[in-house]
Amino acid sequence: MFELKKIRSDFPILSKKRNEKSFIYFDNAATTQKPQEVINEVCDFYTHYNSNIERGMYFLADESTKKFNDTRSIVRSFLNAKLNEEIIFTSGCTQSINMVCFGFLNTFIKPGDQILIGKMEHHANLVPWQIASNRLKAKIIPLESSENGVIDMSDFKKKINSKVKFIAIQHISNITGHENNIQEICSIAHQHNAFVLVDGAQAVSHKSVNVHSLNCDFYCFSGHKCFGPTGVGVLYGKKDLLLRMTPLLFGGNMIGRVSFSNSSLGDLPQKLEAGTPNIAGVIGLGAAINYISSLGFNNIKLAEKLLAEKMWSALKAMNNIALSIKAPPQSPVFSFNVKGIHSYDVGTLLDEMNICVRTGSLCAQPAIKELNSTGFVRASLCFYNTEEEIELFVSALKKVIKLL
Ligand SMILES: Cc1ncc(COP(=O)(O)O)c(C=O)c1O
Repeated sequence: MFELKKIRSDFPILSKKRNEKSFIYFDNAATTQKPQEVINEVCDFYTHYNSNIERGMYFLADESTKKFNDTRSIVRSFLNAKLNEEIIFTSGCTQSINMVCFGFLNTFIKPGDQILIGKMEHHANLVPWQIASNRLKAKIIPLESSENGVIDMSDFKKKINSKVKFIAIQHISNITGHENNIQEICSIAHQHNAFVLVDGAQAVSHKSVNVHSLNCDFYCFSGHKCFGPTGVGVLYGKKDLLLRMTPLLFGGNMIGRVSFSNSSLGDLPQKLEAGTPNIAGVIGLGAAINYISSLGFNNIKLAEKLLAEKMWSALKAMNNIALSIKAPPQSPVFSFNVKGIHSYDVGTLLDEMNICVRTGSLCAQPAIKELNSTGFVRASLCFYNTEEEIELFVSALKKVIKLL
């Protein structure tokens, strides 16, 4: 096991006080906090070698270009992808999904084709598909979920057919913390010649991801949800598919030859990374992944399992709490309602007690409806949270219930 005190001291924000009291950060599914190593790496770029990449012939540009490209290798190995060209830097998970919807889908979808999407998806993995399928006259078919918010595999097997060309699915739910069986979904999809995009936004900070063994066609995530900076993310795609992809943005850095009347596209990955990228963000993401690796997923999983078990039994023991799930989650995410009290009221009172949770529709209105709710309180934990924080959270919740 790792040393929790030391881990917490890696994250400077965790020692912040409000009204001279510590605070509890239970909104890790929205964004994680950043270790000093990531903050230092971003500062270091601007302080010591700020320069654009891939263009200057001078020492600063060499340094930033090298660091930027080294991060591509770090991400490739983090996802266990085969090639560096299969890693595209984006502004986040949302941009990655939009790139597939508007740069790949349009290359082969015909009117009447079908796209299967889980009913529990985050808006980022639903709205772009709605817009793209409207334009292409394709049809979105919803996939039913089981009571814990994972894809109901018998429904999936019923709905897959030769008209289905694409499946968009989250790896781990941002509401229930339960995990979809991606490997099986990909295997069945491929037997029907359909492609699969996996939204890994809620997975990469909790478990080791291996795109090779999952055999997904596209996988995406955001840096800020795995201890990296905001404004940076990743789209992994199999090389032959990325080669078929049309860029969303055109301009510098992504071209081959340009004449005044015409231009040819450059090679992967630059073809899909027009303009100056978020260099500091990408380098910071590399530091975040190195930080995760230094802890090790075995340790992370073990620490989070203990926290999740404690939270699960504490919430289950409370009469007035209606949890969104029937079985303990695979990652430490707990969405629930305090019976008869609006989630915003609970969130506001918890904030007064220095506890940060997410409330409302959690950017997934159809999913919330599916779970027969109008909004949840969501406490999402991370390995740097403590058992004591859970105890304080539960007693704060009891106070809220008494007050309202
Ligand atoms: C499951 C899931 N997918 C996608 C996203 C979108 O991520 P971003 O806003 O960083 O693009 C989120 C963010 O909460 C999420 O939880």
